[in-house]
Amino acid sequence: MNKEIYKVKYNEYLDLFNQYSEKVFSSVETPNNLANAMKYSLFAGGKRIRPVMMLAFADIIGYGAKNVLPFALALECIHTYSLIHDDLPALDNDILRRGNPTCHVKFNESTAILAGDALLNFAFEHVLENISSKKEINALLCLAKLSGYSGMLSGQQSDIEMEKKGGDESTLLKIHENKTCKLLTAPFVIPAILIGDTETINMAQEFGFLSGVIFQFTDDLLDVLGNESDIGKTTGKDLNSGKLTSVKLYGVDGVKSKIKEYVLKTENIIKSIDNSGFLKCFISSVTDWIYEN
Ligand code: IPE
Ligand code: IPE
Ligand code: MG
Ligand code: MG
Ligand code: MG
Repeated sequence: MNKEIYKVKYNEYLDLFNQYSEKVFSSVETPNNLANAMKYSLFAGGKRIRPVMMLAFADIIGYGAKNVLPFALALECIHTYSLIHDDLPALDNDILRRGNPTCHVKFNESTAILAGDALLNFAFEHVLENISSKKEINALLCLAKLSGYSGMLSGQQSDIEMEKKGGDESTLLKIHENKTCKLLTAPFVIPAILIGDTETINMAQEFGFLSGVIFQFTDDLLDVLGNESDIGKTTGKDLNSGKLTSVKLYGVDGVKSKIKEYVLKTENIIKSIDNSGFLKCFISSVTDWIYEN
């Protein structure tokens, strides 16, 4: 698959996802600012890589993109809530997200906390309203675990605890595995659980983990080398707050060569599956920027 075809297909999945999300959220209302704050962050122009990859992977393994839409929306709601909370003064204290003022800057801190909570709850409400089979319940349980205390939240806790402290490679990878890779595994593992094939589940887990490392290493590089208007976030924050990042551990060039190693690993995993062109292009879309900078 070439880059142009990848972009066309990505945008097709993006449209499908956005139309679905807008329809679902048109009936989300509250007599106060809560729903406004939820929608402000959810529709602020995120890249939507998690839901798009879930729709694409569901097609690749023959489950069908439309059949995972409730899970894709739940995943993006959880991701968005994690960003609202990640940006709070008590965590990363960021003022810019997705090119817009962060939720607590636009509204206020209490509204941002509650809007994050509400998006998390909504994710589970929405999936539970749309599922009935045992496989679907297992897929939802998996999403709960990936985002919960043994997954993304544990990673966020360690990320904060390790600020201004040194750490080695295994500490860094554990933080990245939890804070980023777990949610990036969901797009692949959830369709695999819905199909119910163990080999696909294992492959999905491994590919998700590696994609997550590549993604977070790139995010760490962007904090140093990126510019605010391209990435829609304030840059230089990780160094200022003394975060344990891949750049801190390996240096810019070191991270770039680590990313190359991880890309090769992903290629090894996906060569066994048919129609893996979209997955290969996804990895390139994350890393292309690095080779240009
Ligand atoms: C940002 O995720 C948080 C990280 C895991 C680095 P994205 O880069 O996917 O953010 P959006 O959804 O496009 O805003
Ligand atoms: C956040 O990682 C990952 C989450 C679970 C939200 P970062 O703190 O590096 O993400 P950005 O750079 O703020 O998007
Ligand atoms: Mg953070
Ligand atoms: Mg942050
Ligand atoms: Mg970051």
